[in-house]
Amino acid sequence: MRKRLDMRFANGVVSAAIVVFFLVHATLGTLLGLVGFLSPFTWLVWVGVVLIGVHVVLSIFTSREQLTDLERPPSPRKKRHLVLKWATGGLLALVAVAHVVAIRLFGMSVALSTVTGALLTACLAVVLAVHLCVGSKSLLKDLNISRRYKLAFRLVVCAFAAFFAISALVGAIL
Ligand code: HEM
Ligand code: HEM
Repeated sequence: MRKRLDMRFANGVVSAAIVVFFLVHATLGTLLGLVGFLSPFTWLVWVGVVLIGVHVVLSIFTSREQLTDLERPPSPRKKRHLVLKWATGGLLALVAVAHVVAIRLFGMSVALSTVTGALLTACLAVVLAVHLCVGSKSLLKDLNISRRYKLAFRLVVCAFAAFFAISALVGAIL
């Protein structure tokens, strides 16, 4: 039981760190895209990618623990929710790979400023928000924060995503 709580707490801390990290990354990316110059700190994003790797490994352990918990076996609803977390996380990984490949292959201006590039960024913003909304309850639970803040967390995340998506699309059209 103790091990289970530790693992979940560790995943909660890493998850919270990548939430902040990628919201800052996307905000800077949006502002740099609007202003139009390259950041010399691109390599820093890869620190965040390593943390995503840690999050995925910890999630494998926490998922396994939930599924094999004999004291409190997971309900069908909880199992479905876990599948949803993996599906939205997997989708986020796929779109993020497309984001990196687009930047590497076509350069920043094409990857971010064309309509196709902007649609990809908008898609990334939406999938990020969906994964965070799906994981919001677990995040608060893992960090021992009151579930009262779930709606506020979801609203903040969706507001950020709307800002990223709308800025990308407006920037590409204008
Ligand atoms: C949704 C809004 C996002 C925007 C507007 C955005 C924007 C950008 C920009 C402008 C860069 C170039 C880096 C720079 O010069 O500083 C970049 C690079 C990168 N982004 Fe994003 N990003 C977003 C979301 C994400 C997410 C959610 C991930 C990961 C899950 C991610 C992963 C990366 C990585 C790994 C690079 C480095 C690519 C390279 O080394 O060439 N981005 N992004
Ligand atoms: C920028 C990238 C990502 C962010 C910001 C993020 C954020 C989060 C958050 C806040 C949670 C809920 C807290 C928790 O359960 O500890 C969560 C859970 C989860 N995430 Fe992610 N995630 C990202 C990428 C991914 C990826 C790429 C995958 C899988 C391929 C993934 C799979 C999962 C799974 C399975 C859970 C549930 C873990 C559990 O219930 O024990 N995530 N994520």
